[in-house]
Amino acid sequence: MAAPRFHTATVTRIDRTTRDAVAVTLRPDTPEAFAFKAGQYLTFRRQIGEVELRRSYSICAPEGDEALRVGIKHVPGGAFSGWANTELRVGDSLQVMPPMGQFTLPETAGRHLLFVAGGSGITPILSLIGTLLRQDGAAQATLIYANRSPASIMFRDALEDLKNLYLDRLTVIHVLESGQDIPLFSGRLDTEKCAALFTRWIPLDQVDASYICGPGPMREAVATALAAHGQPEDRIRFELFAADQPGKLAPAPRHVAPDAPGIATQITVGGIRQDLTVAQDQSLLEAARAADIDAPFACTAGVCSTCRARVLRGEVEMRANHALEDDQVRDGYILTCQSYPVSGPLEIDYDA
Ligand code: FES
Repeated sequence: MAAPRFHTATVTRIDRTTRDAVAVTLRPDTPEAFAFKAGQYLTFRRQIGEVELRRSYSICAPEGDEALRVGIKHVPGGAFSGWANTELRVGDSLQVMPPMGQFTLPETAGRHLLFVAGGSGITPILSLIGTLLRQDGAAQATLIYANRSPASIMFRDALEDLKNLYLDRLTVIHVLESGQDIPLFSGRLDTEKCAALFTRWIPLDQVDASYICGPGPMREAVATALAAHGQPEDRIRFELFAADQPGKLAPAPRHVAPDAPGIATQITVGGIRQDLTVAQDQSLLEAARAADIDAPFACTAGVCSTCRARVLRGEVEMRANHALEDDQVRDGYILTCQSYPVSGPLEIDYDA
């Protein structure tokens, strides 16, 4: 598999979904590279002066749609999301990588899926629900969508449209911190609230699997409540949230003896091999970038798997992994943003 590369896409439409969020529709110059699975995301690159920003946003359109559309919520202080919400215009060109991510519907997803979203976590969930209900005429979906207030509900109209299209098969429950009169549906979506919903509203014994996307505390609370109500762990799927990216999940720097020797390393990207020496307190991605190797990356926090490569020789230590499955790790795949050299010589292949 070749390492992912950036392509050019033109913005064909921008829809404001709330005061601080937009849905951006794109037309890639190379559409064949942009077939996607529901739940996947796109990684964008933007140069601001000396700084190159990379950010990932989930696709909100259902699988099979012509439109390639992502939801971008303005995160306070967010350089990319702020720019996309205020300055991006129809006709602009963006640098974007092909779709990635594993928060997708497995073949054996089952017939009744529970989706739980918080804030902009609705973006991949919208794509998953639209795809599930369109592809499987017998499938049922229940969505719990948590927000601060009615004004912060992203994709409200799109959810209404889905609800009208699949009246008997989609249940949408809005849980709001304010602006909601029914006590069961008002307040924070914490473990207690989930317990009340699972006891009085959503019979979990009829739910085959659950998909959760939202801020960390909400995600943990929902997973805890699902487990406490008997949902097996392997039927609970997470997508880590944009807010969990840089800084929040990054491991502590690796401490090695000051005189620890660098490790001889060969890195292959896009069929091009390069030899370098990697210090033991330097991640493989940092070393590759310092050597001007065009290694792919996005979050740099072990979340997105854009920086995935395979170790063909030598040993590395991967300090965090929120993206790769156990069998991929067994097969030698690593997240290079989280991997440090241990013994060499090392051979790292981004194309494998
Ligand atoms: S760049 Fe996202 S996991 Fe490494």
